This record gives sequence, C-alpha cells and structure tokens, in this order.
Amino acid sequence: MGSSTYEWIVHNEKKVASQTGSAWPYSQPAWIFSNRKLPIIKGKDIKFVSGDVRQAHAEMRSAAGTKNIWIVGGGDLAGQFYDAGLLDELIIQVGSATLGKGKPLFPRRVLSPILRLVSVCQMGAGMVELRYKVNKGGVSCGS
Ligand SMILES: NC(=O)c1ccc[n+]([C@@H]2O[C@H](COP(=O)([O-])OP(=O)(O)OC[C@H]3O[C@@H](n4cnc5c(N)ncnc54)[C@H](OP(=O)(O)O)[C@@H]3O)[C@@H](O)[C@H]2O)c1
Repeated sequence: MGSSTYEWIVHNEKKVASQTGSAWPYSQPAWIFSNRKLPIIKGKDIKFVSGDVRQAHAEMRSAAGTKNIWIVGGGDLAGQFYDAGLLDELIIQVGSATLGKGKPLFPRRVLSPILRLVSVCQMGAGMVELRYKVNKGGVSCGS
C-alpha cells in the first residue's frame, strides 16, 4: 500500500481496532511505499520500500509463493504495477455515496477491451464489487 493509505490506518488506529479487532488488521506481510520515514507499528511484518515497484514485487512474489498479491492502493500505486505488467485483476467496490470531488480511482488510460468484467457482486443494500481481469495482451476489437 501507499503511504497515504498506511498513514490513514496509523492515524485512525482506535477506529480500525474497534472495527477489525486490531490496530493493524493484516496478518500477511506488508510492503509500504514511501519516500519518507513513517511511524512504525511494532511487532508487525511491515517493510518500507520506495522506487521501482518491480523490485518490491520480486520480494512479494517470493514471500507469497503461489498465493495472490494484493495491491491495496491508492490508485496510482496500482497504476505503477499496471505499467510494469504486474497487475492481473482490478477489484473495485463502489459505495452508495458520492463525494463531489477527489482523486481518480485508477489514473491510467485503459481502453476497452483491455479490462474484462468477470464478476459483479452486490454487497448489502448500497454497494457492489466489480472484478475486472486485466488483459495484458491488449486484444483489440474483433480479434
Ligand atoms: N477503500 C480502499 O480500499 C482504499 C484503498 C487504498 C487507498 N484508499 C484511500 O484512497 C486515498 C488514496 O490516497 P493516495 O492516492 O494518496 O494513495 P497512496 O497510494 O496510499 O499514497 C500515495 C503515496 O505513496 C507513496 N508512493 C507511491 N508510490 C511510490 C513509490 N513507487 N515509491 C515510493 N513512494 C511511493 C508516495 O508518498 P510519500 O510522500 O510517502 O513518498 C505517494 O504520495 C487515501 O485516502 C486512502 O486512504 C482507499
């Protein structure tokens, strides 16, 4: 995850703990991308990295074995993995609220049919989860 996402968790530890049972809700190893020195959450398997995502990805792949690697976000960090051809799937949860302004979800120009919708799952009354497969081959219309 990127540093903004990490810092949100650090700054809202009570809220996170009340909702998940732990101030750091992840049991799997985590890599935090930042060019700054960030507060450390003691006793957790958290590494701080910066720069080319391919280097960190090699470490993640080695740690994950055959398991999936989850790029939590934000969108530009996921975009860096996409740029490097390392993103297989986009899992997007849409909530029933609009903010009026904000950061783009995935600040990359990805044109149809590069993303292929593979599932739609309703979550409660107001949310939906969309799963898109990233077609790295870039198959064009009609082929
Ligand atoms: N709902 C969700 O599932 C979800 C998931 C993710 C994020 N979010 C939210 O969405 C918002 C997104 O924030 P954001 O787009 O700013 O995301 P972010 O990815 O969490 O943080 C961006 C920061 O990460 C660091 N970074 C990114 N790539 C790097 C690289 N290759 N090397 C070194 N550092 C790198 C940079 O910070 P430095 O200044 O530290 O160098 C950059 O400013 C946040 O409010 C977050 O809480 C929500």
